[in-house]
Amino acid sequence: MSSKIVAANFKTNHTRRSTAEYVASLDRFMAENGIGTPVYIFPPATALENFETESGIRIGAQNAYPTVKGSFTGEIGLQQLGEFGIDTVLIGHSERRHILGESQEFIAKKFAWFKEQGFTIFYCIGEPLEVREAGEEAVRRYLVEQCEGIDTSYENLIMAYEPVWAIGTGKTATPELIEKTHSIVKAFSERPLLYGGSVKPSNIAEILAVPGCDGALIGTASWDISSMQSMLEIVNSE
Ligand code: PGA
Repeated sequence: MSSKIVAANFKTNHTRRSTAEYVASLDRFMAENGIGTPVYIFPPATALENFETESGIRIGAQNAYPTVKGSFTGEIGLQQLGEFGIDTVLIGHSERRHILGESQEFIAKKFAWFKEQGFTIFYCIGEPLEVREAGEEAVRRYLVEQCEGIDTSYENLIMAYEPVWAIGTGKTATPELIEKTHSIVKAFSERPLLYGGSVKPSNIAEILAVPGCDGALIGTASWDISSMQSMLEIVNSE
């Protein structure tokens, strides 16, 4: 049985109903096939639910505001997550950094607050193309900056390296590049480190075989249940 972590980020996909169907059928599939790989699903906020699963699929929030409750229009806090027993959150995803404009300062504040609550935190870092093109030292500095104010030794932390140029583009980093970059991150964090960026059934085996890669954070290829099932079968057979 593989101990690699597999996480599915639904982003702005799936509804409340289709998420429930997805979780139920994935749960059945995992139980029937004896898949014990730790699986986390991050559905949109409208689909959060206290799912009872046989396989122990864990549900996390893609985002939340560092508050119990209050006046933060459009956001959800601890009270809303607590209703569904959610204690896992994704922080620092490149889409929140670059599209929603979250600053490192705000991200660090969010991290500290959810750490205080004992949450499992999936913390994402990754460089844009121009930084990658500027060379490895530039990448190292960029990744270190994205961890400013972050307790990278937090016991419930799972790190994810996701190069921006590989997210949703179909362009995956090579195993060599993943191994190199993971060793840069491992130098300042010993927590489990996932790779994310166009992971799919055809490349998940080689990505998870990279030394220092503890799992995958999957967007696009996780939205379709049969694609997710194929990836879990592959992970489980390794
Ligand atoms: P992708 O997204 O698999 O579609 O590249 C990964 C992510 O953003 O977590």
